[in-house]
This record gives sequence, structure tokens and C-alpha cells, in this order.
Amino acid sequence: MRLMPVNLQEHMPSHDPHSATRMDGAQDPRGAQVGNTPLVELPRLARSAGAIVERGEGHAGEAGAAGAAGAAGAANTPRFRVLAKLEQFNPGGSAKDRTAEALVTAALESGLIQDPTTTTPTTTTTPHPITLVESSSGNLGIALARQAHLRGWDFICVVDPRANPATITTIESYGATVDTVTEPDPDTGDWLTARRARVQELLQANPHAINLDQYSNQAAFTAHAEGTMAEIIRDLGKAPDWLFVAMSTTGTIGGCMQKLAEHQATPTTTVGVDAHGSVLFGGTRAQRLLPGFGAGIVPDLARHHQPDHVHRAHAADAVIGARTLARVEGLLPGASGGAVIDALLHHAPHIPDGADVVLILHDSGANYLDTIYNDHWVEQHLGLTSAALRGAVAQVVES
Ligand SMILES: Cc1ncc(COP(=O)(O)O)c(C=O)c1O
Repeated sequence: MRLMPVNLQEHMPSHDPHSATRMDGAQDPRGAQVGNTPLVELPRLARSAGAIVERGEGHAGEAGAAGAAGAAGAANTPRFRVLAKLEQFNPGGSAKDRTAEALVTAALESGLIQDPTTTTPTTTTTPHPITLVESSSGNLGIALARQAHLRGWDFICVVDPRANPATITTIESYGATVDTVTEPDPDTGDWLTARRARVQELLQANPHAINLDQYSNQAAFTAHAEGTMAEIIRDLGKAPDWLFVAMSTTGTIGGCMQKLAEHQATPTTTVGVDAHGSVLFGGTRAQRLLPGFGAGIVPDLARHHQPDHVHRAHAADAVIGARTLARVEGLLPGASGGAVIDALLHHAPHIPDGADVVLILHDSGANYLDTIYNDHWVEQHLGLTSAALRGAVAQVVES
């Protein structure tokens, strides 16, 4: 792993304890340190991806020697550059800090939330305490719990049993209430549908509670257009040639694509990384086990854009991808990051020589140590033995 040299230090004031922005942040910890995450080069992963192509193996038995790959260069010289945007360096540990901050800011600006601590009261009646209610598979829950805590608001986070135990503990540590649905939606078998129904129940029970609705709120697009993607373009000095992004609400990829539309002179091939069993972009519903990526409903945000390619990773392939990145680059991604690696290896044969490829890694593997990084869990839930797992990872590592 290599830190991108391009202007990075100049543009990372929030990580510099001596900079002026850091001082602003010290005055307002709610917004401080969100964004300006590192963009790092992954030369070993690029070499491994290139070597797989040269051996003509492709990944998951599919890629073959097709496309622009050819016999470009020795395995030591990667055909293309791979860079990762490490969103785990946000204060709540994921890209969802950007979304949460944008949702809250938009709600305050539009007057949906009238915070007596930051606005002038327009009536003499006592304002109701502010309570947010949101459905989350985990990371938005952590990010909103942090925002709510720092602003003195209550927050009820509706999760389902697939949420990582470490994530739930983190949300509760910020003082939020975790409300876990115990059954999937009876008609569809989908957990997200059940969570959203529970949000509606809670809103009816508390008419003053507010739902910011991460599935339809376009503030997420702005956060990732003017934050995530603008930072990538700034640090790379240009738009990337290929971009791989895991999807759930599709706020991240939709926002990135909005920004990329301004850079049509260097068109970017976008790969939306979905889960097998997700219904995004025409997917067929099936059971999904891993949190963070994929969706059991088509969120409103997904109706506003269409990635060039949709890659649907099986849970086992996401685990292999995550373990591979850990071994190749010493970086521990979350489950969706593993799916992104799977997508990269799958598409590698089609990536032209000299391309700049950017992967967005939404979070770190720290919250997944008891699941995707636990051999026993992987065998029990995915039927992948330790030996098979190590064999699959070795195929890439030893390329
Ligand atoms: C780990 C992880 N990866 C990917 C995503 C997908 O991001 P988005 O909802 O913006 O599509 C999420 C969203 O919660 C996530 O938590």
C-alpha cells in the first residue's frame, strides 16, 4: 500500500493537528474530520490482478483472457494502477459519516429539524425534544448515533439480526437506542422491508419523531459528489478511468456519478458492486447474509442513475475478496470492500493498460472479525472450509 503523493498532505487538513481546519473542527466536532480520507495506491493488488489475467485464468472462472488484457508486460509491472479511497478513516469509521452529516445538515437547513440549540425559536411553546428514527444495516446507524449524540438529540436505530454485534455495541455506546426487528417481512422474506415497516410504527407512536430516510434523501448524492468524488479527482489530478463502488441505498455511487458527469472529457467506467440476491438494477431476490451492500427493495435513489456495470458478488466471494486484500496489501476491508475486490478481479481482463482504477472501500474489517474473518463462522454460514478459503486466497496472493 502506498499513500498517494498527489497533493495529499495539502488537502488533508482535518488530519493535521496543527492546521486551521483542525482548529475549526475542534470547535465543532459534529462536522469535523468527516471526509478528506486517504487515497492510497495498491501496487501489489494491481500486480496480482494483472497476473491472473496473464495466466488467462480470470476470476471466479469467468473472466478468461478476453478484453484488452492481452500479454501486456511482465507480472511485476502492473498493467493498470489501483487506488483505494479508505473511508474507514471517517470519525465513525465509514463512508456513512458523510451521508449522516449531509442528511442532518439538509434537515436543519430546510427546517425539517428545528434545533432550539442552533435556531431562534419562532414560538413561545416548549419545543419537543428531537428524536430521529432510521433504519440501518449498521454504518449509517453508527454515523447518525454520533451526530445525534453530539447535538443532544435522541436516536432510535432500527436494525435486523444481520447487523454485526460490534456495530450494535458502537451505536449503543453513543447513547442511541437499538430496535431490532426479529422477523423478515412476511410477504417478501426481506429484512429491509421489515425494518422500514418498524420505522413507520415508531413514527406513528411518536408523532414528533423525524425520519431522514436515507433511501430517498438526495442529500446523500451531494455528500458523495462534493465530498468523496471531488476528493478523488483532486488527489488523482483527474477523473479515474474505472471506479468500483459497493451499493445499498446507491447514494455513494449516485453521488460519484453526478460529479463524474462534469468530467466527460475523461469518461469513467463505473462498476456498481451489489450482492447476489439483491434487487438493485434488475437483480433477483434471494437470501443475503452480509450487511452493508445489496438491497431488498429498490430505493428511490437508485431510480436516478445507472452504473455501466453491475457486479453481484456471492457472499463467499466477498469473503475471499476481503481476505485477499488483507493478505496482499495488509488492509482489512469490511464485507462490501471484499465484494469490491471480487469485482475488480472479475473485470481486470477488460481494464485497459495504463488505466487509473479507484476502489471505494466503505469501512474496515474491524467490525467483521467475528464474521467474515472468522473461519468457523464462514464455514458454518457459507459452507466454505478453511482449506477452500485459503486455497482461493492463495490463487490471487501467489499470482
Ligand atoms: C459497508 C458499506 N458498504 C457499502 C454501502 C453502500 O453505500 P450506499 O448506501 O451509499 O449505496 C454501505 C451502506 O450502508 C455500507 O455500510
